[in-house]
Amino acid sequence: MSSLLSADLPGCCSPPERLPPPAAEAETLALLHCRFDPALVSFERDALRLGALPPDNIRRAVAKRQAEYLAGRLCAREALRQLSGTAAVPGHRTTDRGPAWPSGWVGAITHSHGWAAAVVGSARDYLGLGLDVETLLEPAKALRLADQILTPAESERLQLLDERQQAFAITLAFSAKESLFKALHPQVGQMFFFQDAEILGTDPGGTFDIRLLIELSPRWSAGTSLRGHYRLDEERRLLTLIAVRR
Ligand SMILES: CC(C)(COP(=O)(O)OP(=O)(O)OC[C@H]1O[C@@H](n2cnc3c(N)ncnc32)[C@H](O)[C@@H]1OP(=O)(O)O)[C@@H](O)C(=O)NCCC(=O)NCCS
Repeated sequence: MSSLLSADLPGCCSPPERLPPPAAEAETLALLHCRFDPALVSFERDALRLGALPPDNIRRAVAKRQAEYLAGRLCAREALRQLSGTAAVPGHRTTDRGPAWPSGWVGAITHSHGWAAAVVGSARDYLGLGLDVETLLEPAKALRLADQILTPAESERLQLLDERQQAFAITLAFSAKESLFKALHPQVGQMFFFQDAEILGTDPGGTFDIRLLIELSPRWSAGTSLRGHYRLDEERRLLTLIAVRR
């Protein structure tokens, strides 16, 4: 469902549609997704339709990067419109590559393989939000990447799983850690990496617990754990969300 006029829609993107947020966040989050096709990008026209002022590196980028940028910002604009009534397009943080949300709002953007999504919530409710999508890794590739993604404790738990379960666990750890980064980095302003957090457990109902292994700030000390949500769709897309309540 979308109330977008086609004049507002970048030609490379489908109209954004709602995804149901996890039940506990259903009243306070807007989660939108759309598809995009780099072959259909006409960058100046599409940026104008979106109402975006893209930075130079996006203007100069290849069509795939331009399309994913536009699609992520389109979902963000629609999420902000649904929650706030104002269809603002997030700008750009000067300190990192993250989006600059309008005052009073927090959010996150993700995109992969022609699919983009954004989540937005009020800064009254949330300190930060993280959202990440990954296509489920094939078992052989997942195992090749495991050492970069997993901590020793996560690797040990992997031994108890069959090949398909291992691929799922590795993809989930990857996506969950990227979501954690997007939720916390704007708050702490400090880089942290895949060995700095670990999954404690995963519930088949769609939640996981993740723990920080280093201190990022007095609020985010080593040992702090957070609950996240995941969803695997019929196109093997694994979406993770971490919503940090205030
Ligand atoms: C920044 C990063 C998380 C992006 O993830 P990705 O899987 O490469 O790409 P995604 O499509 O999911 O997300 C890209 C979006 O992330 C957002 N983003 C980029 N930097 C960000 C930051 N510092 N904080 C919050 N969001 C950020 C942007 O909106 C970007 O899209 P845009 O440029 O079109 O606006 C990733 O590239 C990275 O640097 N990871 C290393 C740090 C990390 O993950 N540590 C794990 C800690 S446990």
